[in-house]
Amino acid sequence: MAAILGFGGYVPERIVTNDDWATRLDTSDEWITQRAGIKRRRFAAEDQATLDLALEASRKALADAGLEPADLDEIVLATDTPEYLTPDTAALVQHSLGCRNIPTYDLGGSGCAGFIQALDVAASRVATGVRHILVIGVEVITRLISLEDRTTAVLFGDGAGAVVLGHGPGRAEVLGAVSGTDGSAAGILTLAAGGTRNPFNERTLANGDFNRLVMDGKKVFTEAVKRMSEASMQVLEKVGRSLSEVKLVIPHQANRRIIDAVAHRLGIAEDRVYVNVHEYGNIGSATVPFALWEAVGAGRVGAGDLVVLTAFGAGFHWGAAALQF
Ligand code: COA
Repeated sequence: MAAILGFGGYVPERIVTNDDWATRLDTSDEWITQRAGIKRRRFAAEDQATLDLALEASRKALADAGLEPADLDEIVLATDTPEYLTPDTAALVQHSLGCRNIPTYDLGGSGCAGFIQALDVAASRVATGVRHILVIGVEVITRLISLEDRTTAVLFGDGAGAVVLGHGPGRAEVLGAVSGTDGSAAGILTLAAGGTRNPFNERTLANGDFNRLVMDGKKVFTEAVKRMSEASMQVLEKVGRSLSEVKLVIPHQANRRIIDAVAHRLGIAEDRVYVNVHEYGNIGSATVPFALWEAVGAGRVGAGDLVVLTAFGAGFHWGAAALQF
C-alpha cells in the first residue's frame, strides 16, 4: 500500500494583511473577516515564481523522508499557476533538485482539488511498482489573477506543499481516495483568458479579461460544502472506516464559513477540523499538503491517527483521501 514517507511545506515571507488590502481596494478587514475568515495571506517575493516555492517544499519533504533527489522515480505537480504554460513545472523541479531523468508531469487546471487528484494518481503508480514519487501542490496565484478585483483578490495567497510517496510502512498509509468532476459547472470558476479560446492578446488586455478570475462565489460555496462533505463520507465508506474514528479532517481552506459548514454537515466538533485559512487565505492546490505538513509539525496528528483530506476546485472537481498514521 502507498504510504507518505515525508512531508514538506513552504510559504513566502511577505505578509499582506486585510488592512493592507483596504489601502489599495474598496474593502475592509471587517468584510473579509466576516465573509471569508481570512486575516492575512502570503505573497511571493518579486524574484520568486512557482518553481522556487515548489523547491522549498520538496526539499523539506525529501529531508523528512530521509531521501535524496536521486532516490526519486517520478514527480507529479499540481498547479493552476505554472512557471510557464509549457513545459511542465515538474520538469523544472526535476532538474533543479538534481534528480535522474525520471518522468515528470503537471496536473494542471484542477484548481484547488489538484493535490488530492495527484495523490490519488501517485498512489496508484506506487501500486504498480514505482518506488518513490514526489507529489507537489503549489501556487503563485497572486501573480496570475487581477489584484484590482476586490471580489477575488483578497481571497488568495501563495504557497507550496509536498509529500514523498512510496511503499509502506511510512509515516501515513494512503488507505484510499475518491474523486469526482462535474464538467457542467466548469463556468463557475475559470480564468477569462489565456487558453486557445481567448488567448492573451491586446483585446483581452483592453477589455479586462487578461487576468480576470470568473467566479460565481455563491454557487462555488454551495458546491464546495456539498462535495467536500459527501467525498469525506464516501472515502471512509470505501476504506471501511467510520467518521467517529477520524482524529482530524483537513479540508481545503477557501473560506472559514465553508469549513464550518462542512464540519456542521459532518456533525463533528471544531477541534476535529484543521483551520489555517485566517493565516494564509486560499493557496489553491498547495492548501491541503501545506496544512497537512503544518498539522503534522504542530503535533495535531501522529501515530495511530486516522485523517481525512478533502478539497474542491475549478472543474468542478472534488476529492477526499483517508490517511492512517
Ligand atoms: N470587500 C468589500 N465588499 C466586497 C468585496 C470585498 N473584498 N467583495 C465583494 N464585495 C461586495 C459585493 O460586491 C457585494 O456587493 P453588492 O451587494 O453591492 O453587490 C457584497 O459584497 C456581497 O457579496 P456576496 O457575493 O453576496 O458575498 P458572499 O457572502 O457570497 O461572499 C465570497 C463572497 C466570495 C466570500 C463567498 O461567496 C465565497 O467564499 N465563495 C466561495 C469562493 C471560493 O471558495 N473560491 C475559491 C474556490 S477554490
